[in-house]
Amino acid sequence: MSSPSDLVLSAEGLQQSFAVARSVAGRTKGWLRVLRGVSLELARGEIFGLAGESGSGKSTLGRILAGIDRPLGGRLLLGGRDVFGDRLENSLLFKRTVQMVFQDPSSSLNPRRTTGQTLEVPLQVLRLARGQRSARVAELLDLVELDPRYALQYPSTLSGGQKQRVALARALALNPQVLILDEPTSALDVSVQAKIIKLLLRLRSQLGLSYVLISHDLSLMRNVADRTSVMYLGRIVEAGPTPRIFQGPQHPYTQMLLAAVPTLTPDEEALKPAKVQPVGEIPSPSRIPSGCSFHPRCPFAMPVCSDQAPPAVPKGEGQFAECHLGVPAGRA
Ligand SMILES: Nc1ncnc2c1ncn2[C@@H]1O[C@H](COP(=O)(O)OP(=O)(O)O)[C@@H](O)[C@H]1O
Ligand SMILES: [Mg+2]
Repeated sequence: MSSPSDLVLSAEGLQQSFAVARSVAGRTKGWLRVLRGVSLELARGEIFGLAGESGSGKSTLGRILAGIDRPLGGRLLLGGRDVFGDRLENSLLFKRTVQMVFQDPSSSLNPRRTTGQTLEVPLQVLRLARGQRSARVAELLDLVELDPRYALQYPSTLSGGQKQRVALARALALNPQVLILDEPTSALDVSVQAKIIKLLLRLRSQLGLSYVLISHDLSLMRNVADRTSVMYLGRIVEAGPTPRIFQGPQHPYTQMLLAAVPTLTPDEEALKPAKVQPVGEIPSPSRIPSGCSFHPRCPFAMPVCSDQAPPAVPKGEGQFAECHLGVPAGRA
């Protein structure tokens, strides 16, 4: 584990719920429990991968980590300071430290602004002179490998990859330390995806950035994340150094996800964990199953699994899994 001074961001027990459809009388009919106690630590220069099926709460977590939404419970610490407790969430310090990049650059860029105008928005807080502002815009375009002439172009004239470069440049405008990347390549053509990933890796070393990389693409995770975590119904059910997660997944849910990843060679196929066949689909967060929330879909479920939430069982080298299978007898 890294020493506390290496930590740029940490989350402790984050909770988030959304009210579902209100009745005519205005009463809330129920709650979606989307985050149910999520903790994580992000070290300087690290890529922390967050995987899991659609609906597991990844984007909700990303928005809280980026300070866009306030959680219902738990704490977010930036450089040791409690972000929401200190009412810092709208402060310059926060905006400068953490930025988010969304999946679809077409909807995250304003179609009526040129690239230059888009990049100038975050720079407004710096109250730069016009010359300094355009110099910074040119610098940002250069960082994301776009020709300066793109400053005058509107999003409609840019390709998907170019738009995502502009979104990235905008996120970098105030020199953040952390980027929350929410499926940053999922909306792009395969050939473009690799170029954006290469750019992200270069920017990380050049600028000393840390990333929370949200993706359901496990091959990407395997290639770029230092640590990988797996979310299921609002909890991180397994996390650890990426090679350990891919070579020795401990949670049946992680095993199920990995069994579905396509492999290129028979050698890779042989290394895969024994096939764990998924049962059914991910339930709605309005009906979280009792005990281990994965138990209705788990081929190894035991009586205890529907009864008690499993503890996080350490597996060595920082890997843990929330599963009763790994709990030593007598501890459950
Ligand atoms: N603002 C919101 N209001 C109500 N429900 C929401 C809101 N945001 C997300 N949800 C619900 O929370 C669950 C998790 O969503 P999300 O965080 O987007 O998951 P993921 O990114 O893993 O696909 C989903 O069931 C989604 O419908
Ligand atoms: Mg999402």
